[in-house]
Amino acid sequence: MKILAIETSCDETAVAIVEGVGGKKAPRFRVLANTVNSQISLHKKWGGVVPNIARREHQKQLIPVLLEALTAAGLLQKQFSAEHKLPKSTHVKISNYLAREEALLEELCSSPLLINAPDIDAIAVTYGPGLEPALWVGVNFARALSILWDKPLIPTNHMAGHIAAALLEENNPHVHFPAIALLVSGGHTEIVLIKKWGDYRIIGETQDDAAGEAFDKVARMLGLGYPGGPKISKLAKSGNRTTIPFPRPMLTRPNLHFSFSGLKTAVLYYLRDHKRYNKADVAAAFEDAAVDVLVAKTLHAAEQHNAKSIIIGGGVAANAHLRNELTRRAKKRLPKTAVFLPSPALTTDNAAMIGAAAYLNQKTTPPGRVRANANLRL
Ligand code: KG4
Ligand code: ZN
Repeated sequence: MKILAIETSCDETAVAIVEGVGGKKAPRFRVLANTVNSQISLHKKWGGVVPNIARREHQKQLIPVLLEALTAAGLLQKQFSAEHKLPKSTHVKISNYLAREEALLEELCSSPLLINAPDIDAIAVTYGPGLEPALWVGVNFARALSILWDKPLIPTNHMAGHIAAALLEENNPHVHFPAIALLVSGGHTEIVLIKKWGDYRIIGETQDDAAGEAFDKVARMLGLGYPGGPKISKLAKSGNRTTIPFPRPMLTRPNLHFSFSGLKTAVLYYLRDHKRYNKADVAAAFEDAAVDVLVAKTLHAAEQHNAKSIIIGGGVAANAHLRNELTRRAKKRLPKTAVFLPSPALTTDNAAMIGAAAYLNQKTTPPGRVRANANLRL
């Protein structure tokens, strides 16, 4: 099954084509194309993502990104008839879906390369969670393509995508259940119990800031810029993790919940109270505290539920210290549990993970019924 996937929930415009085989029992994937256009440089000067700038940029980038992905997968229909005209009823439907995306409508209808359907079986699109104005662009575009190409539409949960990212390595062993997933991104910090693909239950989550948000805020305090996660982790490499004893919030509580705002405040007070400090040491000690709590709670959840697999996903899963510590401590404490790490490039937002999650779910919805849902839960 070949799925074309679209992701516009935040500040990346992404289109991928993913081929899935083996069904839910033994899924395997081949990524035929995975194109991502990042808007980071546009949002940087605001210190975070500005929803309306994201929306406008998605409108501008979607068709070029789609064309690039189709070309990379060798799926662009080069032969088209110049007289090929859209039936009026199709044009009316597409115009309705793209009424608020006028430039996209014009570009789509005047791009003969896109009028013929490529050789795919379904279209997947992220419909939440995320920034509402950004999500709608992808959703409306996917609805229009679904009508234009007469292909089924699979609305897909962004967080289910972050879980599926770990499956995209071609030679991975299969995930055995129950599995525990740690999802750590800019907006979410969740521990998920997975009994089978599609059966997800959140058993732990943050009570205030998300892990990625804490990295971003601490980076701002240190004057490192946005997004902060990669900058902190780079600087931390040259720092000493043990010179500053930052708190490990919720570590000793028996539940699976997180809290990162106290840790962030502890960093703020440390910077306020020390006229001179070593930035790299602060970054390293903060990273160590955050990673310590994330790993401890994940292993605790895995132990409690006799997990056969542990999966991590989301932007913070690119963090090398988190990857190393989780692997090292899991091996020691739960030697029979397999740990699945997505390749670093697939931890941050992309559409390949959305295609994989859509394959695991395969629930289609008529285009007219798909809505963006900013607060969608797993
Ligand atoms: O999953 P993602 O791309 O977008 C959301 O869905 O939020 O995650 C972005 C988050 C940002 O907060 C960013 O600072 C963080 O992931 N991040 C990292 C690293 N790379 C990205 N955090 C820690 N270490 C990293 N290497
Ligand atoms: Zn994400």
